[in-house]
Amino acid sequence: MDKLVIEGGVKLKGEVTVSGAKNSVLPILAATLLTDDACVIKGVPVLRDTYSMFKLLRSLGKNVEFDKGTVTVTATKKAGFFADYKLVSTMRASFCVLGPLVGKFKKAKVSLPGGCVIGVRPVDLHIKGIEALGADIDIDAGYVEVKADKLKGSHMYLGGVYGSSVLATDNVMMAAVMAKGKTIIESAACEPEVADLAEFLIKMGAKIKGHGTPVIEIEGVRHLHGAIHHIIPDRIEAGTLMIASLITNGDIHLKNVCFRHLGALIDKLGEAGANITKSDGSIRVRRKGKPRAVNVTTLPYPGFATDMQAQMMAFMVITPGISVITEKIYPDRFTHVAELNRMGAKIQKEGPHAVVEGIKELSGAPVMASDLRASACLLLAGLAARGRTTVSRIYHLERGYENIEEKFQRLGARVWREKE
Ligand code: EPZ
Repeated sequence: MDKLVIEGGVKLKGEVTVSGAKNSVLPILAATLLTDDACVIKGVPVLRDTYSMFKLLRSLGKNVEFDKGTVTVTATKKAGFFADYKLVSTMRASFCVLGPLVGKFKKAKVSLPGGCVIGVRPVDLHIKGIEALGADIDIDAGYVEVKADKLKGSHMYLGGVYGSSVLATDNVMMAAVMAKGKTIIESAACEPEVADLAEFLIKMGAKIKGHGTPVIEIEGVRHLHGAIHHIIPDRIEAGTLMIASLITNGDIHLKNVCFRHLGALIDKLGEAGANITKSDGSIRVRRKGKPRAVNVTTLPYPGFATDMQAQMMAFMVITPGISVITEKIYPDRFTHVAELNRMGAKIQKEGPHAVVEGIKELSGAPVMASDLRASACLLLAGLAARGRTTVSRIYHLERGYENIEEKFQRLGARVWREKE
């Protein structure tokens, strides 16, 4: 296993291009199961998770070619319906092959995804939605088995105790596009990645309205054809790079960003003393004087993204004052707190809240990544810390950030990879 070594204290400066959105490309790749025609997806990032999805699609009878950011998916003679535990347990997003398999073949047997360090990760809303379309579902021995003579459109409410569900909305949408009649999904997830999936499905011939809002309407069709699609920019990678500029008191220009996907973050960073200016498709981020401690609460989109919580905490750690960070999506998503405290941070966890008392400077230390966004947080902390930080288990980072150390090296960071 590899680790990242960071010599902190460099003010990052320069231009960086944001990659395609991981959380858009994964469900869109799954959606290619809905047709036997060729699909071409452009702007696909090189990530562990994209390769995991390629492997899963191949196990389901698809031919997948990937070259210079473009994926071409075609059908083979042997279409499968069984998504094995070994594959699904490595990446929770694999569970979003359930919807398209049910939509296209009216049957599927998909392993239940395990939990992970950020939470239990239930799938009750996925099951509720697919059942609402008339499917019979049996959960046995860690697998969800679905059979449906036919799928019938339905009016359903898909909100859970923590609000809307991104992948449950994706799964139900991908089944409903081939159900007979109209489906209305209330309390649908509004994330840009859900809307991007809907745009791809519409290019395949699906009839969808209201995507990106809490009410999605779908008119089922009998057949979906191949399509070509370009993935939206990754707003979480963009947010991570924006905080890299602020935490090192740098001056970074981000290219390939969608400003309107970053509303909550830009608002909160402005409150914390950031100077963020935009010009055609790019964003410039630097400090405007001393940063200020702010309170943050994560919410479903368009609220502050839970996937940005750990990175924001790294910034608040070195910001004068008290910041209360409340996690409303995954109340246990605080594995990064202990590691930041090893670097000298002063963070007190109180249930779904983390109380951060800003300090002058972090000190470099050996730390351990536990999940994708926690690893990004530790990388950011290392960039700002005095001295050397080593972040081990960086395969977590490689799941969701394309060429991240090269991107930071080009901005002047002293970061490199070593064998554990
Ligand atoms: C997606 O996961 C993202 N992953 C996550 O990003 C992201 O953190 C999450 O949405 C929230 O924005 C992908 O898109 C591949 P949810 P998902 O269903 O869809 C509860 C990253 O770092 N819930 O929207 O699995 C759930 O426990 C990853 O890129 C139920 O109760 O998340 C959570 O509290 C991490 N029942 C809340 O809803 C269900 O059936 C939101 O989860 C499903 C979810």
